[in-house]
Amino acid sequence: MEKASSPPTRLARAISDQLLEVVAAAFKSPPLQSPTGEATGDGGSSGGGSTHSRKSSRRLMPAESPPGRSVARGSDGRGKNNNTHIRKSRSAQLKLDLDELSSGAALSRASSASLGLSFSFTGFTMPPEEVADPEPFSDDDIPEDIESGQPEKPKFRTELTLPIYLKFTDVTYKVIVKGITSSKEKDILNGITGSVNPGEVLALMGPSGSGKTTLLNLLSGRIMQSTVGGSITYNDQPYCKSLKSRIGFVTQDDVLFPHLTVRETLTYAARLRLPKVMTRQQKEKRAMDVIYELGLERCQDTMIGGSFVRGVSGGERKRVSIGNEIIINPSLLFLDEPTSGLDSTTALRIIQMLQDIAEAGKTVVTTIHQPSSRLFHRFDKLILLGKGSLLYFGKASEAMAYFSSIGCAPLVAMNPAEVLLDLANGNINDVSVPSELEDKVQIGNADAAGMASGKPSPAVVHEYLVEAYETRVAEDEKKKLAVPIPLDEELKLKVVSRKRQWGTSWWQQYCILFCRGIKERKHDYFSWLRITQVLSTAVVLGLLWWQSDGSTPGGLEDQTGLLFFIAVFWGFFPVFTAIFTFPQERAMLSKERAANMYRLSAYFLARTTSDLPLDLVLPVLFLLVVYFMAALRPDTACFFLSLLTVFLCIVAAQGLGLAIGAMLMDLKQATTLASVTVMTFMLAGGYFVEKVPVFVSWIRYMSFNYHTYKLLLKVQYQHFQQSINGIVLDSGVKEVGALIAMVFGYRFLAYISLRRMKMAGA
Ligand SMILES: Nc1ncnc2c1ncn2[C@@H]1O[C@H](COP(=O)(O)OP(=O)(O)OP(=O)(O)O)[C@@H](O)[C@H]1O
Ligand SMILES: [Mg+2]
Repeated sequence: MEKASSPPTRLARAISDQLLEVVAAAFKSPPLQSPTGEATGDGGSSGGGSTHSRKSSRRLMPAESPPGRSVARGSDGRGKNNNTHIRKSRSAQLKLDLDELSSGAALSRASSASLGLSFSFTGFTMPPEEVADPEPFSDDDIPEDIESGQPEKPKFRTELTLPIYLKFTDVTYKVIVKGITSSKEKDILNGITGSVNPGEVLALMGPSGSGKTTLLNLLSGRIMQSTVGGSITYNDQPYCKSLKSRIGFVTQDDVLFPHLTVRETLTYAARLRLPKVMTRQQKEKRAMDVIYELGLERCQDTMIGGSFVRGVSGGERKRVSIGNEIIINPSLLFLDEPTSGLDSTTALRIIQMLQDIAEAGKTVVTTIHQPSSRLFHRFDKLILLGKGSLLYFGKASEAMAYFSSIGCAPLVAMNPAEVLLDLANGNINDVSVPSELEDKVQIGNADAAGMASGKPSPAVVHEYLVEAYETRVAEDEKKKLAVPIPLDEELKLKVVSRKRQWGTSWWQQYCILFCRGIKERKHDYFSWLRITQVLSTAVVLGLLWWQSDGSTPGGLEDQTGLLFFIAVFWGFFPVFTAIFTFPQERAMLSKERAANMYRLSAYFLARTTSDLPLDLVLPVLFLLVVYFMAALRPDTACFFLSLLTVFLCIVAAQGLGLAIGAMLMDLKQATTLASVTVMTFMLAGGYFVEKVPVFVSWIRYMSFNYHTYKLLLKVQYQHFQQSINGIVLDSGVKEVGALIAMVFGYRFLAYISLRRMKMAGA
């Protein structure tokens, strides 16, 4: 089904041709020439359909002209509206002509006023400073209703990016499924071949579990394993890490911080991901542009929300995820089900936006589940997968013709996407039965051929479709892909440049991540629950040890019990809070690291230091209450030394929690290991047992409870006791040294574990 056949597109094409003339006259400049010398100003609508028309209209524009700053808002009356049509159509054409940059043939779908005309976002408003006074134009011939409400495309989308041609040949992928006794290989993808060029949107369709997400992960370089076969190239070059900053990947599940607002989310993304050459203001401005572009301005100050916090709606969250990726203006954009769960109008808007992004010379690959027929016709290329095999690759508009040609024509009028998904599922109830399958049934026994109620079984249909594609199309496609891309060697090599580029310096990354961490977890910090928990424990302790007297033997014994409890309490809590740190952020960390957003060291330090302030405020409150209620040694220096000891204990214990969390990255396992460790440390802490067999006595030296307890005892009683409960009260240097070693040692272990953590999708 050709796009040209739909009435709105035809109308748009006519308008687009008119616009060409008007704008050409306005600029008084001749149409640009294609590299082949072909004049491109012609509407070229003969036989080329809307695709041709869009392409030709896009070619007509002086690249150096400033983008039209011309979004006049509705209330200005008719005359102004008319002007707006022209201004906008001109701005739609003010785009870099990537056809010329790469190859004319490669950009099969180009842009245009006609596409642009039908593109609009509800609720789109430009910031007031963007609305400039328009230049007068005359556009009497243009019907005004077509373009009303048409927003100007933000400048960044049309910024020059490196065009990337993605080709993949015979891509296979296996996983090893481990059983209880044996493990076996499972084929997830079997020889997928295809390509997508700048300016095109490739849709991956197929039933659930057919391998769409897996293919998308492979194409974006997120799965790099020995079980991946075939070749995937970017401008004829293999994947290279520097591509990370040119690739945007919108995951199937939205991974966002629930407590940040929409604007904060996008601003932090912009500040971390955009190149160093941009100033902070420019980056923030771009975040705002994306907000306006995605129609998120109404909820820009709303929290994202998650399972426990109510925030923006599902569709808005999806758009924020998309915004997070388009903000960097990627050359290659991958999206995993960007429209699932959205109403059909919003879904259409998102696909229109993808088309629009593609028009500016980007390569877009998206998986999609159940597109409406309107959506389906907007894709340039289509891959249909069934159980990991390729059932169709080619132009989306030719898919139905292909399936009809192999005998699977729909018997009733249906949405083409539905027909294709039925076929991929092996269901041919409303589709004609191919003669080959009928023959098979007539020759053999009906059961053997898998006939059920007169139709072949899904497995038989699947086999037939795979075979049909392989015999009729696959070889031709592979031959086409073997032809090198007509691109400059220099452009080709750009994708493999070895240099990794960070958006900001290490220090800025640290500051941004630190602030983001504080914002994201501020509700945790000042949670009254936690403060009440600590204060009530302190009050109970103060009451139980009310004005205790350490100078009598009985009182001393009581007080040592209190000191040991303090050492255990402040050793126990930080471990169990810190355990959650990395496993909870695992998805986010994988996603951001996959996008090369920051150095791991900057993240690690920011994450571990942003929790410190509150972790150090609580013990102060605690100790203030306990110390004076229990009447511990009344000396300012002693109070502060006790406080310092508790601080050291907390920071060391946190290190242990971070290390366990980072090593296991699984909360259940981490909690189990931590409880065993903390219990061992507590028992070895020197309070419960004095005489420990030599072969396990070393455990106490690993216990931060032991060192803390010893230091607390020393602070309280060193002035009149040499040893208490068999613990010698010496200078305390060894204990402090041991705690400091733990502070850094455990953190180092955590850092190394994070470094070794596998990336998303792997
Ligand atoms: N690591 C793995 N181990 C075992 N099976 C896997 C693994 N990765 C993928 N699979 C299987 O491969 C198949 C394809 O998975 P994939 O996530 O790509 O499907 P999909 O087409 O994206 O499905 P959906 O539309 O539901 O998202 C599924 O059957 C899945 O169970
Ligand atoms: Mg999926």
